[in-house]
Amino acid sequence: MIAASILSADFSRLGQELESVKEAGVEWIHFDVMDGCFVPNISFGIPVLESIRPASDLFFDVHLMILDPIRYVKAFRKAGADMITVHCEACTDLKACIREIKETGAKAGASVNPDTPIEKVLPHIPQLDLILVMGVNPGFGGQKFDPAALDKVAQARRQIDLFRSKTLIEVDGGVNDKTAKDISKAGCDIFVAGSYLFKHPKGIKAATKELRGLI
Ligand code: DX5
Ligand code: ZN
Repeated sequence: MIAASILSADFSRLGQELESVKEAGVEWIHFDVMDGCFVPNISFGIPVLESIRPASDLFFDVHLMILDPIRYVKAFRKAGADMITVHCEACTDLKACIREIKETGAKAGASVNPDTPIEKVLPHIPQLDLILVMGVNPGFGGQKFDPAALDKVAQARRQIDLFRSKTLIEVDGGVNDKTAKDISKAGCDIFVAGSYLFKHPKGIKAATKELRGLI
């Protein structure tokens, strides 16, 4: 499946952007929350999520790039998150944070940055709905994909298949027409794309069609 990262959308017409994502057949909205502490950028938060929730029936895949995310799990669920993914590097107790997410009824994801070994999240597979492998250092859209992520996807794929688990693998950062094939071959389930979809010269519909053809 494809998740459109709205970090790259035009915020002066966010409603229409959500419409075009839906018309393009994209399944998930990827919502990048940045606190300026865990990552060197500040994006958007709960009020924006609350305002777009009634405007879209797509699956809201919330990516928390914030320190100590357990503090905000309930608030993001209340604002409309369907999936809440936290960074293992940002949690003092990842197990507790995953439990907190699941207690709200949301799906739970754990993410690893490029420098973090995938082993950090593998032991949590039985409790996880999703593992998010970063293709870039988080904080910005439009960065170059780090191919080291491919081994991590393949390792997570093997482990998930071994456990016969339903945990999904998502790749985020630098997904485009050049990288999609290799990411798919490594075993990825969900492809997050921001700049490739929203900045494509032929528009989001053509970009989505192209990406889906490569996956
Ligand atoms: C980066 C975000 C990504 C980013 C993806 O910190 O987590 O979701 O927006 O953007 P592209 O697809 O442009 O690399
Ligand atoms: Zn993201």
